[in-house]
Amino acid sequence: MRILVTGSNGQLGSEIRQLAPSYSDYSFIFTDVAELDITESGAVKNFLTENPVDVIINCAAYTSVDKAETERTIAYRINVDGPENLANAAAKKNILLVHISTDYVFEGTHSKPATELDPVKPMGFYGATKLFGEKAIRNSGARALIIRTSWLYSAYGVNFVKTMRKYGLERGELRIVSDQIGSPTYAVDLAKTILDIIPQYKRHDCDIFHYSDEGVASWYDFAWEIVRLSGIECAVSPISTEEYPSPAPRPSYSVLSKAKIRQTFSLEIPYWRDSLKACIARLEAMEKQES
Ligand SMILES: NC(=O)c1ccc[n+]([C@@H]2O[C@H](COP(=O)([O-])OP(=O)(O)OC[C@H]3O[C@@H](n4cnc5c(N)ncnc54)[C@H](OP(=O)(O)O)[C@@H]3O)[C@@H](O)[C@H]2O)c1
Repeated sequence: MRILVTGSNGQLGSEIRQLAPSYSDYSFIFTDVAELDITESGAVKNFLTENPVDVIINCAAYTSVDKAETERTIAYRINVDGPENLANAAAKKNILLVHISTDYVFEGTHSKPATELDPVKPMGFYGATKLFGEKAIRNSGARALIIRTSWLYSAYGVNFVKTMRKYGLERGELRIVSDQIGSPTYAVDLAKTILDIIPQYKRHDCDIFHYSDEGVASWYDFAWEIVRLSGIECAVSPISTEEYPSPAPRPSYSVLSKAKIRQTFSLEIPYWRDSLKACIARLEAMEKQES
């Protein structure tokens, strides 16, 4: 099976690249914006003609949640036009498109995990673009697997885990929001899930699944655990969302129900603290190697 991974220098794409040697049944083409700009429909068509593939995993995205409020044109182009271009090309060439979406398509005012059937209502422009991206894929008629995930972190890129470790070393105290609840997701776990379920996806149309690591946490709980597992001596104090205003509003409860993906593909999903521990051990090993 030939797989094109777009946006492969990001967190998720980098983790798929790391896992690729363990999936010897697949051959991969890794691209980022320099090799394939997904917002250019002509470039997407030409690329797929020159490089025929069976599956596209779209890891390309505009992911700056707050900046999206002002950088609307570029956020829309990457998160809506991009997936639409990939989906239209995939529909014509009978390629399976795997696309990643977000918990931020939900308003998050309920206190039970959101299922794939729950009504969507994004609170900010980033969430809206991700929702429009999903709709563009559905409308294209492509075979597509859309996976909504949440609170993604990895050993690569800029993310909450790396930022908390940095600030924890620099500052005596971290003041972190404790009234927003979600599920941290290690990009390695999501990457493995994607690669494992691709051959099991038998539908000829588009379907949506939710995936995050198991368990729930507030950003405060998450930061506290990052600091503890990293052995950093720094106080972590809970604050309210009102004390930390951000340009884009955030859902207060953005836990995703994983029942559908777990049952459909017989998955065992790791608990977020176990995956965080693995990520921190890996970051420490990478830092040691660099020094
Ligand atoms: N991060 C989270 O907490 C989170 C939560 C829920 C869902 N998600 C979703 O999960 C997916 C993966 O997220 P991630 O954190 O791995 O994203 P990421 O680290 O921001 O990576 C996105 C990659 O896409 C590239 N890119 C941007 N514009 C492009 C274009 N026009 N053509 C091709 N590539 C382009 C980026 O390059 P540049 O860096 O040069 O722009 C970057 O390498 C995204 O769909 C995201 O919306 C993320």
